[in-house]
Parts: sequence; C-alpha cells; structure tokens
Amino acid sequence: ASEAQLRAILDTVPDAMMTINENGIVQSFSNAAQNLFGYKKDEVIGKNVSMLMDDHDAQRHDEYLKRYLETGQRHIIGNMRCVTGKRKDGTLFPHELYIGEAVSQGSRIFTGFLRDLTARREAEAKLQELQ
Ligand code: HEM
Repeated sequence: ASEAQLRAILDTVPDAMMTINENGIVQSFSNAAQNLFGYKKDEVIGKNVSMLMDDHDAQRHDEYLKRYLETGQRHIIGNMRCVTGKRKDGTLFPHELYIGEAVSQGSRIFTGFLRDLTARREAEAKLQELQ
C-alpha cells in the first residue's frame, strides 16, 4: 500500500491502530488511537512507541524489536497479548494488542491494533462482587 492509502485506512479504521518502523518510531496513529491515549497524532508520530507504555516495557522495547529483527523469533507478532498502555496524563490501562508485520515500499513496518480492556475489567470486577 502507498503512504496515502495507508493514511486513508488509518483515518477511517474504527480501531485504535498505529504503525512503527524497524526502529520503533511511530509512523502513523489512527483517530481512535488518539482518543485512547489522549495524544494528538503530531505528538506521537516521529517518536518511539515506548512513550505509550509503562517504564518496565519502555526501557526494554528497543531490545525486543532488535531481538526479533536479529532472530526472527516471534513472541507477540501474530498473538493477542494483554499489555499495559500509558496515556498522556500518565494513567495506565490494560489493553489487548495485536501486532502484524508488513512490507511498505521496501521497508518493514509493524502494525499494532489495540483494544481497551478497562470496561471489560470493571464489569468483571462488578460481577465478582455480586457472587
Ligand atoms: C515486542 C510490549 C506496543 C511492536 C514486545 C514485547 C513486549 C512488548 C513485552 C516482547 C515480547 C516477548 O518477548 O515476550 C509492548 C507494550 C506496548 C507495545 C507494553 C504498549 C503500548 C507495541 C506496538 C507495536 C509493537 C504498538 C507495533 C506497532 C512490537 C514488535 C515486537 C514487540 C515488532 C517484537 C516481535 C515479537 O516479540 O513478536 N512488545 N509493546 N509493540 N513489540 Fe511491543
């Protein structure tokens, strides 16, 4: 897909979605992702995706990427994972992350789809109380 096609998809996709390059630098950020994280696109595009996670993962995410690029061993790619995201205001929230891999104009990019689990977790907690 061309850059313009990719952008059109990202502007209309109802899900929180973003793409990063091989260095973990955010290249696109969907409208729903803006709502989820509280950042505008311009505040995130060009920065490391690690700004969207807690310190533990943020400090290691470059290494995760490097390890994958060197070994080809997948841990998250292709598998749904529950991870912790960090909003602009610093609050942490659980979400499901699905990562895919694509080649765009000769270079490798990673696509991330996110689903906020806050409401589901709250509902689960309420159900527990009722039991
Ligand atoms: C790897 C956390 C977002 C792309 C990893 C790993 C963790 C992690 C823990 C290592 C997995 C393991 O070794 O078991 C997070 C957290 C995120 C986040 C907490 C919260 C925002 C993203 C996003 C993308 C991405 C949005 C892509 C758009 C990757 C890639 C790998 C990776 C390509 C290496 C491949 C793999 O392990 O399968 N991440 N990640 N991550 N992450 Fe993230």
